[in-house]
Amino acid sequence: MALLGLLLLLTKAGSSAGLSTADPEPSSVPKPTSVTVESYNLNPVLYWEYQNMPKTPVFTVQVKTYESAVWLDACVNISHHYCNIFHQIDDPSSPLWARVKARVGQRESMYAESKEFTLCKQGKIGPPALNVRKVDNNIAINIFHPLIVINGETLGAMYDEDSACYAFEYHVYIRVKGSENTDKKQVSDPCDETQCELSIPVSSLNAEYCISAEGVSGRWHVTTEKSKEVCIAIFNRSIKALCGQKRHIGDETRLKIHVGCHLLPAVGPGRREGAL
Ligand SMILES: *[C@@H]1O[C@H](CO)[C@@H](O)[C@H](O)[C@H]1NC(C)=O
Ligand SMILES: *[C@@H]1O[C@H](CO)[C@@H](O)[C@H](O)[C@H]1NC(C)=O
Repeated sequence: MALLGLLLLLTKAGSSAGLSTADPEPSSVPKPTSVTVESYNLNPVLYWEYQNMPKTPVFTVQVKTYESAVWLDACVNISHHYCNIFHQIDDPSSPLWARVKARVGQRESMYAESKEFTLCKQGKIGPPALNVRKVDNNIAINIFHPLIVINGETLGAMYDEDSACYAFEYHVYIRVKGSENTDKKQVSDPCDETQCELSIPVSSLNAEYCISAEGVSGRWHVTTEKSKEVCIAIFNRSIKALCGQKRHIGDETRLKIHVGCHLLPAVGPGRREGAL
């Protein structure tokens, strides 16, 4: 987290420095400025700024990866100020460089280059999705891995360090509403390609439990955004006795519920509580 924060700081510092750099030759076409790669959920995009010109400029973006070691076109003669470079990346764990030049009429600027960028290390990752429900005397929590979404298209989940940078360990925060304390559980098992699971016993009845989670990658020092809290109300089962009847059958105590008695509307088994 500290590393990521530092990198973000450096990126910010880099962009403001780029802004103030004056073009050395006033007659030539100026270079783009504030050239930075930003990535969200493994979708990397190069952004830049450009001054207002009398004639509309177009831009050409090239990417060089550590493996290829040659500059390859990513976007050619585009008029907007961003270019998706996902398809130029051969290995998300290796560094890449991106550069952009401007063309106005028949004249071109020099290339302006980004800082080195490693997708797994510097990309920002959104929160895991949560599903929370009551099963017997437990709260069952499903934590769904963040998805890789490229230009609006879902390519899969982040569950594997080789293909998708991260096999997250999840930090799950459990808060009883009205209480100051937040309990924290670390979950890395059981997990599959879609999700990890956690079951916690209900220790306090007639309470509302609020659950949130974030993913942590030790390998890349990356922490995902934290999910929103999902809350579930757990009621003391004995409340049933207020409108039902206890019956003893052998060793078991059973409840006979009167017709018309409204019970536990929010926590029926299998009911999905607000998936995010
Ligand atoms: C980009 O624009 C230049 C100048 O108009 C032109 O020579 C070149 O062929 C264009 N490239 C592509 C791929 O359209
Ligand atoms: C549940 O409710 C019953 C009756 O209101 C009460 O006697 C019991 O202490 C409660 N149990 C807990 C764990 O709160």
